[in-house]
Amino acid sequence: MDLLLLLLLSLLLVSFAYAATDQDGFIGVNVGTALSDMPSPTQVVALLKAQQIRHVRLYDADRAMLVALANTGIRVTVSVPNDQLLGIGQSNVTAANWVSRNILAHVPATNILSISVGSEVLTTLPNAAPILVSAVNFIHSALVASKLDSRIKVSTAHSSSIILDSFPPSQAFFNRSWDPVMVPLLKFLQSTDSYLMLNVYPYYDYMKSNGAIPLDYALFRPLPPNKEAVDSNTLLHYTNVFDALIDAAYFAMSYLNFTNIPIIVTESGWPSKGDSSEPEAIIDNANTYNSNLIRHVLNNTGTPKHPGIAISTYIYELYNEDSSTGSESEKNWGLFDANGVPTYILHLTGSGTVLANDTTNQTYCVARDNADKKMLQAALDWACGPGKVDCSPLLQGKPCYEPDTVAAHATYAFDAYYHRMALGEGTCDFNGVATVTTTDPSHGTCIFPGSRGRNDTFINGTSLAPSSNSTPSGSSAQNLHNADTSLSSLVIDVLLCTFLVFF
Ligand SMILES: *[C@@H]1O[C@H](CO)[C@@H](O)[C@H](O)[C@H]1NC(C)=O
Ligand SMILES: *[C@@H]1O[C@H](CO)[C@@H](O)[C@H](O)[C@H]1NC(C)=O
Ligand SMILES: *[C@@H]1O[C@H](CO)[C@@H](O)[C@H](O)[C@H]1NC(C)=O
Ligand SMILES: *[C@@H]1O[C@H](CO)[C@@H](O)[C@H](O)[C@H]1NC(C)=O
Ligand SMILES: *[C@@H]1O[C@H](CO)[C@@H](O)[C@H](O)[C@H]1NC(C)=O
Ligand SMILES: *[C@@H]1O[C@H](CO)[C@@H](O)[C@H](O)[C@H]1NC(C)=O
Ligand SMILES: *[C@@H]1O[C@H](CO)[C@@H](O)[C@H](O)[C@H]1NC(C)=O
Ligand SMILES: *[C@@H]1O[C@H](CO)[C@@H](O)[C@H](O)[C@H]1NC(C)=O
Repeated sequence: MDLLLLLLLSLLLVSFAYAATDQDGFIGVNVGTALSDMPSPTQVVALLKAQQIRHVRLYDADRAMLVALANTGIRVTVSVPNDQLLGIGQSNVTAANWVSRNILAHVPATNILSISVGSEVLTTLPNAAPILVSAVNFIHSALVASKLDSRIKVSTAHSSSIILDSFPPSQAFFNRSWDPVMVPLLKFLQSTDSYLMLNVYPYYDYMKSNGAIPLDYALFRPLPPNKEAVDSNTLLHYTNVFDALIDAAYFAMSYLNFTNIPIIVTESGWPSKGDSSEPEAIIDNANTYNSNLIRHVLNNTGTPKHPGIAISTYIYELYNEDSSTGSESEKNWGLFDANGVPTYILHLTGSGTVLANDTTNQTYCVARDNADKKMLQAALDWACGPGKVDCSPLLQGKPCYEPDTVAAHATYAFDAYYHRMALGEGTCDFNGVATVTTTDPSHGTCIFPGSRGRNDTFINGTSLAPSSNSTPSGSSAQNLHNADTSLSSLVIDVLLCTFLVFF
């Protein structure tokens, strides 16, 4: 290849990298207050500071909370609660009073940067829809009168359920019943350089899909290329539900001829606990979703339609809200309990400084519950054979022999492989029978690879009989890691390209 061309190419890459840093995405957190033992505003702010959370969204404009946030630099989105919306939408004087009492009294000491006028109004309070746009306009006019309009943006948070037919994203549109609201609202957002606020819950889309949406697709886990969703109109590939929903919103706006309004995600998250009808509301999934979401946002990955355009996101939510009504999962969206103890430790290595507790090295690869036994056996055979895992601890009399089940032995072998591959993406899949967890599966003297203070052990090339109980199943074992193999060869290709560019 021509050296000059290569040089130009790398310069081009560098300049793109710089351009992208102009609009870095941020991660914020929603502060709900439905706790029987709600921490005081001072305690809330102490937690935010300890966890290096720099952006919060409040569901009201609570005075004590705004006072506690003063002089912290924390960027704040406040809300006009739905029960105050009618008054504000009907009278610009009421709106001006609201702004004076809840905004002017606190800025600039409290760093208020946006106002959400109502929350999911179209779907939860449809009778207020006719006055939504005037409420938004009145609040904005009051800010203009105080010369705060360039500093504080005004918008209203929508449920993503106002977007219909969201897959393929290119065919999505806003429920047409709401065009009389959406069209003037989008005009307002465009003319004031504001953004569309959207609540995005792949958890609910997954739950409603009855299996049509794979769990991995909702959790941002790597999918084999043949399982990625492709929009047949645009040929864009979707690797996660979140991106597909954001692009659906972009397309729904462009359907109404609005093509330059940015999107901010005002709520997204995953519950860590649920009742028996909510089997995927578990800690591992919540951790996986939120960790991957944070990495995705902070990487400024953007979406397939607008790569590199960051989608800043507020996680739902800071605390588990034990006083929430509804199903068990409703009470368990929090990153922390009322005492500020983390519900789980996010794994965020490499994402900079948001949420201080970061122990990414403590993840383990385990057999999925209810995984097919034959597939587990085949994967176990592969790991202990071609996968080059040292399976000797699984032999009779050795520490990990008990319990002598395929699932327990497979878990050990999967975890050993995963750690040998340095926790690489796609190395904990085993044709779908394995999954990542943050719970150390070590028991008794059986210490798993990756467990604190333990070196990984494996030997090169020697296959050891995994277990007396597990019968070799032969033929299909080799095929198990096709996705994995192609991933490694991809990595090698990328490395080769990098070398080509620089030498
Ligand atoms: C309310 O609207 C009226 C009519 O447009 C205007 O004259 C008045 O100044 C506004 N009042 C406030 C407080 O914005
Ligand atoms: C569209 O919105 C109207 C008004 O709220 C609602 O009755 C209707 O069910 C919605 N359509 C769909 C397909 O959700
Ligand atoms: C969008 O623009 C096109 C082309 O100018 C026009 O035909 C169409 O009616 C517009 N759609 C809406 C909803 O305004
Ligand atoms: C980060 O972004 C780059 C391109 O912008 C992409 O190739 C990479 O996969 C992203 N990483 C993550 C973890 O999203
Ligand atoms: C982890 O979180 C706890 C509780 O929030 C906090 O006390 C501790 O300082 C944090 N650890 C680090 C390393 O930030
Ligand atoms: C793994 O995490 C522990 C804290 O849980 C930390 O002390 C250790 O340095 C980490 N190791 C690596 C390799 O990141
Ligand atoms: C891991 O192995 C290396 C090399 O054998 C050794 O130097 C190191 O101390 C070991 N670490 C632990 C935590 O056992
Ligand atoms: C495994 O093989 C690699 C290269 O093939 C070698 O560098 C490494 O030392 C070997 N490890 C052991 C434990 O034999």
